[in-house]
Amino acid sequence: GKYRVVSTKSMPGTRWIDLLVRQDCRVEICTEKKTILSVEDIIALIGNKCDGVIGQLTEDWGDTLFSALSKAGGKAFSNMAVGYNNVDVDAATKYGIAVGNTPGVLTETTAELAASLSLAASRRIVEADGFMRAGLYDGWLPHLFVGNLLKGQTVGVIGAGRIGSAYARMMIEGFKMNLIYYDLYQATRLEKFVTAYGQFLKASGEQPVTWKRASSMDEVLQQADVISLHPILDKTTYHLINKERLSKMKKEAILINCSRGPVVDEEALVEHLKHNPMFRVGLDVFEDEPYMKPGLADMPNAIVVPHIASASKWTREGMATLAALNVLGKIKEYPTWSNPNAVDPFLDENSPPPS
Ligand code: GLV
Ligand code: GLV
Repeated sequence: GKYRVVSTKSMPGTRWIDLLVRQDCRVEICTEKKTILSVEDIIALIGNKCDGVIGQLTEDWGDTLFSALSKAGGKAFSNMAVGYNNVDVDAATKYGIAVGNTPGVLTETTAELAASLSLAASRRIVEADGFMRAGLYDGWLPHLFVGNLLKGQTVGVIGAGRIGSAYARMMIEGFKMNLIYYDLYQATRLEKFVTAYGQFLKASGEQPVTWKRASSMDEVLQQADVISLHPILDKTTYHLINKERLSKMKKEAILINCSRGPVVDEEALVEHLKHNPMFRVGLDVFEDEPYMKPGLADMPNAIVVPHIASASKWTREGMATLAALNVLGKIKEYPTWSNPNAVDPFLDENSPPPS
């Protein structure tokens, strides 16, 4: 191969490798056993000649790495993730390196995990499973693991971009929940969907669902029964959910986070869970991954999973493919972003802008 492309991790499927190899690239996949690579590990991987890198969200892509990649003749970097808070885009730009991410292919998969956590929390599935396995079940009782009915309750979405909108749709269509959302952008397609679905329910003689675009985030916190967070992580969303905001939520509310850990003040959350036993939370992400703040793992009203929201086979293969196309497009100067049809059918250009 004429070009050298490095992937810091082995990724699912073979399509991404085939694509690169067919276009004159030699693909080198890091074989290091440890889960999280340091900046030094990655500098060694980049070496003296490297045209592009596919990296992971656990890596710190800042000035040091982009400088090393630039010295090795690199032109492109793609995160295998939609989020890119681990990437200093300004630094990449300074060295003339293009940056890509992998939106679109993980929208439904991520929304499905947020929906799974919402159901698991509302019906206390993890607690109940532990109860069975511990041999504590000694007969049906009217009070055993009583949770709450989603139908007719209000789902609150903070950040109604691609993922937030897909999640909202699942909860509305699947469980006939009402919607309240907060976003800087109007979620036009989502609003059209809820309106049409409400009319459909009415025509079938059922109670129609209602929706509202909130004028403040607090309005969502105060009114929603299930709240799911879908913003990007940046300075403006760091600790968006803090002690004060938690106190505005209903005592029996459910909070779901499949975005980024630092969006929630996790220590404040642990305190809130301790003092509000009926408040429940479903977390896919944590402030200091892979760690959890002290006390979180002991809370029966918390469900915790290890950052697996995009973990479906189809999506992970799609993310790897998109990441390879991002790098290839720049190395070979394909008109990737200017011509969506030339990129990949995975991209959904009709989606509302990400929040
Ligand atoms: C996963 O967290 C992603 O950003 O794709
Ligand atoms: C519960 O199992 C019921 O039959 O109501």
